[in-house]
Amino acid sequence: MDKIQINGGRKLAGEVDISGAKNAALPLIAASILVDGTCEFSNVPHLVDIHSIRLLLEDLGARCTFDNHVMTVDGSGIHKIEAEYDLVRKMRASILVLGPLVARFGHARVSLPGGCAIGARPVNMHLTGLEALGANINITHGYIEARAQKLVGNDIYFDIPTVTGTENLMMAAVLAKGTSVLKNAAREPEIVCLAEALNRMGAKISGAGTAFITIEGVDRLGPARVKVIPDRIETGTFMVAAAATRGDVLIKGCNPEHLGGVINKLRACGTKIDINGDQIRVTGVEHIKSVDIKTLPYPGFPTDMQAQFMTLMCIADSTSVIHESIFENRFIHANELLRMGADITLFKANIAMVKGVPELQAAPVMASDLRASASLVIAGLIAKGTTLISRVYHMDRGYETIEKKFCALGADMVRIK
Ligand code: EPZ
Repeated sequence: MDKIQINGGRKLAGEVDISGAKNAALPLIAASILVDGTCEFSNVPHLVDIHSIRLLLEDLGARCTFDNHVMTVDGSGIHKIEAEYDLVRKMRASILVLGPLVARFGHARVSLPGGCAIGARPVNMHLTGLEALGANINITHGYIEARAQKLVGNDIYFDIPTVTGTENLMMAAVLAKGTSVLKNAAREPEIVCLAEALNRMGAKISGAGTAFITIEGVDRLGPARVKVIPDRIETGTFMVAAAATRGDVLIKGCNPEHLGGVINKLRACGTKIDINGDQIRVTGVEHIKSVDIKTLPYPGFPTDMQAQFMTLMCIADSTSVIHESIFENRFIHANELLRMGADITLFKANIAMVKGVPELQAAPVMASDLRASASLVIAGLIAKGTTLISRVYHMDRGYETIEKKFCALGADMVRIK
């Protein structure tokens, strides 16, 4: 397994280009199941998760090409409605094929995605939503079996905003008979990107980005060309890295509109942030102020930025309280940061109290999930000495050529095969 070795203590400086958003590309690629023709997606990041969903679609019978960040998917040849355990276990987001398969073929068999390091990750709202649209759902031998003569539009109320739940049911409803309204829907930019793409394919969706999304069913969808939005979490990760190393980084090809929660908190720490179109300049300051955060559904502070921000708070001037309200076990990185000399106390209700220390100490650490690995990279960048991060395959799922991008900013970082 690869490791990443970092000699820390250097300020980041220079420019970095942001890749397309993994969590926008995944539902877009799943949506091509709905189309009897070829869709083209540009600005698709070259990531392990993107390769996983491509393999899954090809297993169903789709024909894909992927070159230089452009992916085409021809869904006309799809002849299989079963997403196998072996493919789904590699990536939970495979659940996103469920809605499109039921919508187009009236039948789907998708392995129940297991949990992961950060939580149980149930999909009950995906299933109750499909039942509301008239599907019969059975769970046998670890598989979800969904059948429907024809999905029928209905109102669906989410107990809590679910990102892939909203995406799955939006895709299921586009071919249903009649109108559906998703209530308490997730409002993430990736959902807006998916709705705009589906409308370009002939769907009739309004309200994406708000808590109420209306979908008028249509008979069929046609091919479309769609550009994937920039990755707001990759952007946030580089912003926090620039702040933590007291560097000066120009982040290009991003969408500052999608980062309100992160920009707000970084400015509260004293970090200088200048926004100019699709570029954000982040200038770190010596004196980093401790601030509290609570992770919330968009547009609140994103849970996918919590681990990275915790690293920054480890070297802030007093005490920060971090409340992770979305996932039940998303503080695994705290144990690794403690080994690097951080002062973190964890409380039961997903609360972490972080007391700033003057500096972190380099140490061998282990990544546990995608965003935790990013927090350890940032810790390695600021700790004096050599940090060795193992299990970086977690990183490769969601960050495109991460060490190349950091080295271009002056980091002393190498991947050890
Ligand atoms: C999406 O996961 C993202 N993944 C996650 O990013 C992100 O952390 C998460 O949204 C929250 O923003 C993709 O978009 C592929 P949820 P998702 O359904 O959709 C509970 C990353 O790092 N819930 O919005 O699975 C759930 O347990 C990944 O790229 C149910 O109880 O998250 C959680 O507490 C990690 N029942 C909360 O809702 C359900 O049926 C929000 O989860 C569904 C969700």
